[in-house]
Amino acid sequence: MSSDLFEKVAVIGAGTMGNGIAQVFASCGSHVTLVDLNEDALKRGMEAIESSLARVVKKERMTQADADATMARLSKSTRLEDLTDQRLIVEAVSERADIKASVFKTLDAVAHPDAILGSNTSSISITEIAANTKRPDKVIGMHFMNPVPVMKLVEVIRGHQTSDATTDAVMAASRALGKEPVAANDYPGFVSNRVLMPMINEAVFCLMEGVATREGIDTVMKLGMAHPMGPLTLADLIGLDVCLDILEVLHRGLGDDKYRPCPLLRRMVAAGCLGRKSGRGFYDYQ
Ligand code: 3HC
Repeated sequence: MSSDLFEKVAVIGAGTMGNGIAQVFASCGSHVTLVDLNEDALKRGMEAIESSLARVVKKERMTQADADATMARLSKSTRLEDLTDQRLIVEAVSERADIKASVFKTLDAVAHPDAILGSNTSSISITEIAANTKRPDKVIGMHFMNPVPVMKLVEVIRGHQTSDATTDAVMAASRALGKEPVAANDYPGFVSNRVLMPMINEAVFCLMEGVATREGIDTVMKLGMAHPMGPLTLADLIGLDVCLDILEVLHRGLGDDKYRPCPLLRRMVAAGCLGRKSGRGFYDYQ
């Protein structure tokens, strides 16, 4: 990566998004510390990176030596207090405002004073996250898409006090990762989820009302609109609980009933049918 600023990076949260983000930074030359409080989650995160890299090597888009070098640039930690050295820290913990608040308070206390604190939040306000720190000018949204190694977009979200210097640095870092950054302002759901989630929600209403079968709904959007995945398959990939959380943020934040989560989505989340990660969502993955 071109800038020294991003030589050492930390990613907080070893789940799907966190391990994907760690992988792309490490693939591009950053020394990455992947942090999770849970040792098992860290182990699973590293295994996910290894198998994702194996996929890239199999496709002959990376040599085995480069994949090994990428793995060698990754280290693990269970302590946020270790992150004193990095100039860019990207948080990708679960989508709960209280958890993010606590992570940002700690990061603000321990991180280098110049460090930029990014959040991969899909819908929580960057301005609210930044309010937990004494450096709101250095707090910014860095919203990657799932699967992170494949999807080209980084939605870069400016909080109310995010500085131009922070925005420029993060836009440049995203480009150095081979991604296309798009700047957005801090309104509920930003652009990506404000546009995507109503479509997914509407697909669930169509299913609930019996307009078509799940396969029918997905096929209409795949073949009719050239979407790579139908909306119900995509919801299963994202996680139905995540979709519901984002719709709640849109509904609450924008106050329009067009964002009202479909009762079927609520029922499935209550039943623990969360999509691929739980083995069952609109489709069965067992
Ligand atoms: N790691 C590395 N490479 C991967 C990968 C991974 N985890 N997953 C897929 N790939 C690669 C494959 O190796 C393959 O490479 P190739 O082009 O050289 O053959 C390529 O990606 C395509 O994968 P597949 O052939 O296995 O499968 P598909 O062609 O069906 O593509 C997909 C899979 C890329 C997931 C595609 O279906 C897609 O783009 N789906 C839509 C995804 C989407 O919309 N994501 C955004 C979700 S919203 C979000 O994340 C925001 C959040 O806030 C909710």
